Amino acid sequence: DRRRPLVVAIDGPAASGKSSTAKWVARELGLRHVDSGSLYRAATAAALRTEPESARWTEASVLAAAAPIHLVPGETTFHPHLGDEDLEFVIRGKDVTSHVSQVAQMPAVRAWVNRQVQATAEGHPIVVDGRDMGTAVFPQARVKVFLIADPWERARRRLVQRLQRAPEEAEIAAEVDALTQRDAKDEAQTQQASDAVLIDTTYLTQEEQVERIVALARAALAGP
Ligand code: DC
Repeated sequence: DRRRPLVVAIDGPAASGKSSTAKWVARELGLRHVDSGSLYRAATAAALRTEPESARWTEASVLAAAAPIHLVPGETTFHPHLGDEDLEFVIRGKDVTSHVSQVAQMPAVRAWVNRQVQATAEGHPIVVDGRDMGTAVFPQARVKVFLIADPWERARRRLVQRLQRAPEEAEIAAEVDALTQRDAKDEAQTQQASDAVLIDTTYLTQEEQVERIVALARAALAGP
């Protein structure tokens, strides 16, 4: 349907491989990629700088800290900038990761993120990933995908990425616990659209995931 926005929305839980998959899909299709989680992370980084004591944060104080943040198009992916500073590196740190769920629960921050993400799609097709892109943010997206994977496999992939080696079983078990806790915190935000294509990536390589989504997107973007 040509009236539907040219958006490929990829949602799923933490460490389901959304962002790396979304970036690769965008490259294949020659589209830009937006990682909505990067905005929640950027707002968190800005809030931490303004007030290191997160117990003192309010919705208004986080929004005020986040106000100067804007998305700047990079080679494929938009990066959050605070003024002139590219936050892409800072937002992947431990401090941000451990506080971001708190920020992502603030409705005013969610509304702010959603507006920023929607603005990137004005006049440009995008591939976007997050928790609620196919539901709250782009309910009319042309393509919707929901990625899931077995927790053990998600934990293993995350550790390979972080450690650059094969992780031990005990390390994976500890990471499964950490992931399960994050899933519980993010559960309210993680929504599978009723018209999303569910892809279980447990037994797929990243290349296979990318191929499937690219095929779906090519069909939908070319369709009537
Ligand atoms: O995907 P990520 O790890 O970068 O997400 C960071 C946090 O932001 C995580 O707590 C989930 C939240 N998030 C969200 O609530 N909605 C989104 N669309 C994207 C991320």
